[in-house]
Amino acid sequence: MGLTLPILETAPPTEIAGEERLRDSHGRYITDLRLSVTDRCNYRCVYCRTGNDGAQYSELPLEEYARLLRIFVSLGIEKIRLTGGEPLLRAGLLDLIRETATLRSPFTTEPLDIALTTNGHLLAPMAQDLKDAGLSRITISMDAVDAETFARITRVPGSFERVQAGIRAAQKAGLGPIKINCVLLRGFNEGQIEAFAEFSRREGVIVRFIEFMPLEEDRTWTPETVVPMAEIVARLNNVRPLVALPPNNPSETARRFTFDDGLGEIGIIAPVSQPFCGHCSRVRLTSDGKVRTCLFSQFDHDLIGPMRRGANDVELRSRIRSMIERKEARHHIGEPEFLKPSRSMVHIGG
Ligand code: GTP
Ligand code: 5AD
Ligand code: SF4
Repeated sequence: MGLTLPILETAPPTEIAGEERLRDSHGRYITDLRLSVTDRCNYRCVYCRTGNDGAQYSELPLEEYARLLRIFVSLGIEKIRLTGGEPLLRAGLLDLIRETATLRSPFTTEPLDIALTTNGHLLAPMAQDLKDAGLSRITISMDAVDAETFARITRVPGSFERVQAGIRAAQKAGLGPIKINCVLLRGFNEGQIEAFAEFSRREGVIVRFIEFMPLEEDRTWTPETVVPMAEIVARLNNVRPLVALPPNNPSETARRFTFDDGLGEIGIIAPVSQPFCGHCSRVRLTSDGKVRTCLFSQFDHDLIGPMRRGANDVELRSRIRSMIERKEARHHIGEPEFLKPSRSMVHIGG
């Protein structure tokens, strides 16, 4: 009989060489950093930006993002999501990914998970280079399965074909599991839920439906514009019976499902009807170098100012700790005291 060794269920260490993993005052470990590398965007999605151009843009030199990323990773960040605006518009992005791929959290032996959220417009010719630079996986926004509705949402003609080519190129480059983000907007695309289910089953991608949140520049959000999770589930069950899948990790935003034949994967992200703030592991760094501890924060914490005035890494680490300490417990969407955040999604980074 072979020797059976006990499986040890060890939690990750909380302290290495006197340095503790980042944790907020509500006891949540912060392991996930979203960095917006630009607040420029070539789309004007109705749930995000205004239809008018002329906004001011702000970006930092890539070396400054690289330094901040290194400091965050030393504090226990294990997952980095590069976002925008549209991150593929940012010159030098591949260099930043290459440099990020060399970082390791001291609290885990796992390599850093580097993901990117893109609208997919510029993706096709870049997909292989992104993979070669060290990107782990990609999420692509796609809010309709037909060209006309898609262009009505992005407000850019011809966008649908570009994004389809981007998805195919990402698959070919091995940037999977590929996730497709679909923000559902009442009156625009809720009639496409069933067709999206077929898309997931046919193309082998994970389709995630997202409840619309009040983060748009146009200020069109009302509770009635949200397509709630219960309605999404009911519509999907008409395609085939849904089967729940276990979460990949405790702080996952999406509830995962497949169908009874195991084909296709659906995620439902329901921050409005089923908030997941209690398990939040996320912090955001805006393209102008501000730390945002919640999508719905009323203010940002300035990190770039002290950095440019000569703060060393030890000082910056201590500033980050005290910012995280004050992370909000939860959002207040739908409650009387809810205040719109000071910035919209295109400036915060999805
Ligand atoms: P992975 O699980 O690593 O793939 O990432 P994710 O599930 O966090 O996905 P992604 O970054 O693509 O986020 C998907 C969407 O979920 C975002 O575009 C937001 O709409 C929403 N979301 C992500 N993080 C938060 C959060 O902290 N709060 C709220 N309210 N919504 C969030
Ligand atoms: N509500 C929910 N999700 C949003 N996103 C952008 N604006 C909103 C909003 N108001 C998501 C989109 C995109 C990512 C960058 O952010 O899904 O994929
Ligand atoms: Fe651009 Fe993304 Fe906002 Fe659409 S959701 S306008 S693609 S930043």
